[in-house]
Amino acid sequence: MTIGGIDPKFSSDHFDTRAIHAGQLPDAQTGAVVPPLSLSTTFVQSSAGVHKGFDYSRTSNPTRINFETAISSLERGQFAVAFSSGCATTTAVANLVKSGSHIVCVADVYGGTFRYMTNVAANNGITVDFVDMADPSNISKHIRNNTKMVWIESPTNPTLRLQHQENALHVAKFLESHPLVDSVMFPGLPSHPQHQLALKQCKGFSGMLSFRIKDGTISKSNAFLTSLRLFCLAESLGAVESLAELPSVMTHASLTPEARAALGIDDGLIRLSVGVEDKEDLVRDLDQALRKAFQISSSSAPRVVSAVFAKSKL
Ligand SMILES: Cc1ncc(COP(=O)(O)O)c(C=O)c1O
Repeated sequence: MTIGGIDPKFSSDHFDTRAIHAGQLPDAQTGAVVPPLSLSTTFVQSSAGVHKGFDYSRTSNPTRINFETAISSLERGQFAVAFSSGCATTTAVANLVKSGSHIVCVADVYGGTFRYMTNVAANNGITVDFVDMADPSNISKHIRNNTKMVWIESPTNPTLRLQHQENALHVAKFLESHPLVDSVMFPGLPSHPQHQLALKQCKGFSGMLSFRIKDGTISKSNAFLTSLRLFCLAESLGAVESLAELPSVMTHASLTPEARAALGIDDGLIRLSVGVEDKEDLVRDLDQALRKAFQISSSSAPRVVSAVFAKSKL
């Protein structure tokens, strides 16, 4: 199998330049500046076993090679292997360990990875401990003789698009000051317990954030989610359109209630994937949905909402 590797032509260039040029050379045949997408399943051979580096698209194809080369260059890696989905990657990586092995996995892992680890890996004779890695010493405490892999997703649910994170910061600040919101989790806010660590580890804070709605019952969360106009009530993240979901009954429904409680995933915890719409439209949408959920007139200013809220002692 051919996989994408280093593109030495651009190794001394900066990240932004490598993002444009590594693995994206003009098409050798036509000179097209943007390499065309390769849609062919199979590739012709001049004699049996003799071809130009590609024989069948599942194992490798020119578009994937370009992408892998770009990613390995951006990550300053030696190689990169691209998969058609995140869960395909999870399956391939987890299959690197043999039956009888043990994996130490970050506790607030993506829901699909959690299901893979508990349902599929367990059937293959692999045991998994889910560990709170905010304190790294927890990792060594769980290492056993048969531990073959430490599974880390950091930051969990990442996307690093500038517009997303600028909008997400705006939304996070808005929600943090909103009287109908209890708390906001966004690493870009100084109130986040790992804000300093995020500043060291990341170049940005992603478009993902979570918040707790006041009176965090499932009916209150649903009243809010179904009142949103611009945010779609849907799973997934990192899209250009804004999404909202309720992890306790959606992405993280497969965790036991105890595991959810340990991670702080309660019925009032709402996750937003902030898109690239106008940030003022986004906060207006969140504000009107919060007001609808609490049946507060939309003509009231947030300060008035605050007073109403304080009175109702919800
Ligand atoms: C960390 C992580 N792993 C895996 C996946 C699954 O990706 P896919 O739906 O492409 O299989 C996701 C999707 O959001 C994810 O965030």
